[in-house]
Amino acid sequence: MTAVRAVVMRGPGRPVDVETLELGEPREGEVRVRIFASGVCHSDLHVRDGEWPRPTPVAMGHEGAGVIEAIGPGVTERHVGQPVVLSWLVPCGSCRACRTGHVWACGQSPSFRHALLDGKTALFGERGEPVFSYCAIGTMAEATVVPAAAAIPLPDGVDPAVAALIGCCVSTGVGAVLKTAVVPAGASVAVIGLGGVGLSCVMGAAIADAGRIVAIDRVAAKLDVARSVGATDGLVAGDDPAATVEALRELTDGGPDFAFEAIGRVPTVELAIESLPLGGTAVLVGMTPFESRASFAVYPLVDGSRRILGSNYGFADPAVDFPRYAQWHLDGRLPVERLIDRRIGLDGIEAAFDRLRAGDGLRQVLVP
Ligand code: APR
Ligand code: ZN
Repeated sequence: MTAVRAVVMRGPGRPVDVETLELGEPREGEVRVRIFASGVCHSDLHVRDGEWPRPTPVAMGHEGAGVIEAIGPGVTERHVGQPVVLSWLVPCGSCRACRTGHVWACGQSPSFRHALLDGKTALFGERGEPVFSYCAIGTMAEATVVPAAAAIPLPDGVDPAVAALIGCCVSTGVGAVLKTAVVPAGASVAVIGLGGVGLSCVMGAAIADAGRIVAIDRVAAKLDVARSVGATDGLVAGDDPAATVEALRELTDGGPDFAFEAIGRVPTVELAIESLPLGGTAVLVGMTPFESRASFAVYPLVDGSRRILGSNYGFADPAVDFPRYAQWHLDGRLPVERLIDRRIGLDGIEAAFDRLRAGDGLRQVLVP
């Protein structure tokens, strides 16, 4: 057992706290990773605020990177000292989705049980009680024990904060553009919501060589960051969605070929669909609370051959895509460092959640 400090949630809607937990040794097929950076994603906030019910107590965080510091028996394809980024979806390898190569749609992943492959956890609280590990990786901690398949080796020289972001928001946004939507060169793109996920959609659209890339947020300062990572235009979204649609149509010759919603709110989901021209595609990337329902006019969707796509984790095949995105970053094609705002200690988590709720600043990264 090793003592580790970790951000723990004891109940939905309650402030999280940093606790000292006992972390077991890696067993068969597991590795222990020393965490160097863990991004604060809006999904963590959904969990913290009780919008997504999760088992508790749970060690939070799902966007992390670090180095392997111990390996369990039977692990041959990882070694101590290897820099890794953690995948929050650990493919089971045997369900229908995994067998057909759609690993991002795995339905049997231990990640959904927030535990290791056999359902056990390596984390224990003060009274010896088991503590779940969010998505089987619980990255807001000094160290974590994960299935070896969750620890994806990276090329040397990637800043751990950048690597962490590749583990969630970068793969989600870039993959939504390149893998889910397969945006062709020259197409017009709108991205609604410019957090880590939306800015990554913008970077993906730039790599796809999209024509117009219109970045939309209610916070004006985010538009400048979006421009610095490839947006050609920016729109401040006010309180009237009809006005935003109108302005977007103006900029895109009647509506964007692809509209990415990267917030997870019903009004902006409806705005994305509403803005489409004939043949246009809305790509829903933002995650809503579980019970959300949106509506759209059916006739124009069918009559105009419009499409609505859902994209989870940017259709990531982590073992293939994470090293590829990391290499693109090293080559200067994915300026992930521009998404990073401040680096803070684990104790800063509640303040970080407050800023995220307010839409304030860029991606915050915890450095344990
Ligand atoms: N109109 C325009 N922009 C908005 C609006 C709105 N009505 N509401 C929020 N925004 C902007 C915020 O200002 C912020 O820039 O959306 C952005 C959301 O960014 P983050 O909170 O940083 O969220 P992020 O981590 O990028 O995740 C986005 O994807 O994976 C999901 O669960 C995640 O639902 C979340 C979404
Ligand atoms: Zn995330």
